[in-house]
Amino acid sequence: MSESNEFVRACALSEVPAQGTLGVELNGIPLVIVRSDGEVYALQEFCTHEDVSLVDGDIYDHTVECWLHGSCFDLRTGKPTGPPASKPLATYPVRIDSGDIYVALPAS
Ligand code: FES
Repeated sequence: MSESNEFVRACALSEVPAQGTLGVELNGIPLVIVRSDGEVYALQEFCTHEDVSLVDGDIYDHTVECWLHGSCFDLRTGKPTGPPASKPLATYPVRIDSGDIYVALPAS
């Protein structure tokens, strides 16, 4: 991955439920911002099994669970921890600054 990632403001921290999600689109990339157990994560929005949004997924134990077939993904790595998905979600570095969430996107 490029070293020249650029942090882009995604939303205010207060816009994301404390144990929940918010869908955003940054530079044309659909993302799901997740807050879980005091941490903030940014991942690709759509499940790698089929093309459904994880904004409606369940959040628990550093996991997002897809609402359609129940695949679980580790929020820290994007890796699937439960079938049927076998491919990881893309993850993006996150920074919090003055109450706003910034996400590092690959340089285009
Ligand atoms: S669409 Fe997400 S597990 Fe099938």
